[in-house]
Amino acid sequence: MSTELILGIDIGGSAVKGAPVNIKLGELCSERYRVEIPELADPDSVSEVIASIVNYFNWKGPIGCTFPGVIKKGVIHTAANFDKSWIGINGETLIASKLENPPVFLLNDADAAGIAEMELGAGRGRQGVVIMLTFGTGIGTAIFSEGQLLPNTEFGHLEILCREAESFTSARARKKENLNWKKWTERVNQFLARMENLFWPDVFIVGGGVSRKHTQFLHLLKSRAEIVPAKMQNKAGIIGAALAANRQFEWVKNITNT
Ligand code: BGC
Repeated sequence: MSTELILGIDIGGSAVKGAPVNIKLGELCSERYRVEIPELADPDSVSEVIASIVNYFNWKGPIGCTFPGVIKKGVIHTAANFDKSWIGINGETLIASKLENPPVFLLNDADAAGIAEMELGAGRGRQGVVIMLTFGTGIGTAIFSEGQLLPNTEFGHLEILCREAESFTSARARKKENLNWKKWTERVNQFLARMENLFWPDVFIVGGGVSRKHTQFLHLLKSRAEIVPAKMQNKAGIIGAALAANRQFEWVKNITNT
């Protein structure tokens, strides 16, 4: 297996998806393979699902994987919308232990989506401060300054009018409360205004599942910054995980050779 290929895995609230990614082209080499999250979404059950995806592709090489929480050196520190038993676990070691100990790199899901958009999608060539937002079960944020990511920013948990932003502004909240686009975007605009006053971004990239429907709501969003829809759609997590893993493995190789 060529080292230009890395298996990207995206752990989401309802399913785990994966596909081998060509790192040079930033493209999936085959269709995504998707497996529903088991009812018990504990580390053991979900890592078995990951192993089944790895085996489906008969994969023996390196793996990049996302998780919807804060990750530092492979260790999961938060799981706001996921099974709490993941907290404190080293996800990289766990996943590798279910396989033949391949190199595994784990990172936050919004960070992965942001990396994919910055390299190949809506953020490509953008200078200044770019903020990627993912609206799904929660709200993910990834902040880039001149292309450099500040990881694990977690601004979906900002308090706005005494409520956690993601609890009333996520795509899940829109569905749960049956909000029309106008009502939902009023809430998103409050969130954008807070982010804007904190970071003075040049561009917001609006991503997550809801971005498929951007033609229905993007014109209702207001900001001093430019607002653009994400381009990579449901492939962003997988591609971003693989690109980030490649960078990490290269960086480790370089520092261990000096
Ligand atoms: C989590 C973030 C994640 C976001 C999107 C939030 O609840 O805290 O880590 O990026 O949801 O999944």
